[in-house]
Amino acid sequence: MTAQPSARGDVAVVVPAAGAGVRLGPGAPKALRLLDGEPLLVHAVRRIAASPSVAMIVVAAPPADVDAVHTLLSAVAPVTVVAGGAERQESVAAALAVVPPELGIVLVHDAARCLAPVSLFERVAATVRSGADAVIPVLPVVDTIKEVDADETVRGTVDRSVLRAVQTPQGFRAPVLRAAHAAAADAHTDDAGAVEKLGLPVHCVPGSDLALKITRPIDLALATHLLTIPDPAAPPA
Ligand code: CTP
Ligand code: MG
Repeated sequence: MTAQPSARGDVAVVVPAAGAGVRLGPGAPKALRLLDGEPLLVHAVRRIAASPSVAMIVVAAPPADVDAVHTLLSAVAPVTVVAGGAERQESVAAALAVVPPELGIVLVHDAARCLAPVSLFERVAATVRSGADAVIPVLPVVDTIKEVDADETVRGTVDRSVLRAVQTPQGFRAPVLRAAHAAAADAHTDDAGAVEKLGLPVHCVPGSDLALKITRPIDLALATHLLTIPDPAAPPA
């Protein structure tokens, strides 16, 4: 199901949303679980569509739910919906395959990070536009991190000042992301990892607490409260 790219911007956003949500417990696929009465995917697409840079949104949905997801999202924004794959990178590849070459910037954004604010999409897109091949939003690591042996004995304490927790949207010059996916033989949990393997630099920008990934039930509880917090960088309504 396809919607044509608009002339509004230079960015396509690819949204992997085909995961089962096993860690969230039994129920519908994670992207279709409800947060404050609406599916996570609706929250995510609403924010993506409000980002001025975005010309096209491609969602990779659970294969059995492609039609339902298209119907659901058509009320929110023009979207293209494709069937996702068994692994996240297959879902990203399926969505990337329908992005037309004239869109020079691609952002990959997990539906599970459904409260990522407009300002974050714009920050990542602007950094790619200003010349970076690959851009990731990051936060400092707040916990002390230990390296352990197989028997759970501590081997040492990691210097957390050089560590970053990585979020989405991750942004790329479109040809770089296509080349990274084409070259990626093994599994990678994020798309920037595939770009790293090409030997290209990946640039970090500040992430957002609102872009947390909904993974476990406690994250849904936290997200319900976060819905009441406005995007601090958004212009007044
Ligand atoms: N995803 C996808 N296709 C897959 C697996 C994951 O599109 N085969 C998407 C998920 O829908 C999610 C994002 O990738 O938006 C990040 O994955 P994750 O948070 O691990 O979600 P799930 O795989 O659904 O959760 P779980 O691992 O608990 O099953
Ligand atoms: Mg998963």
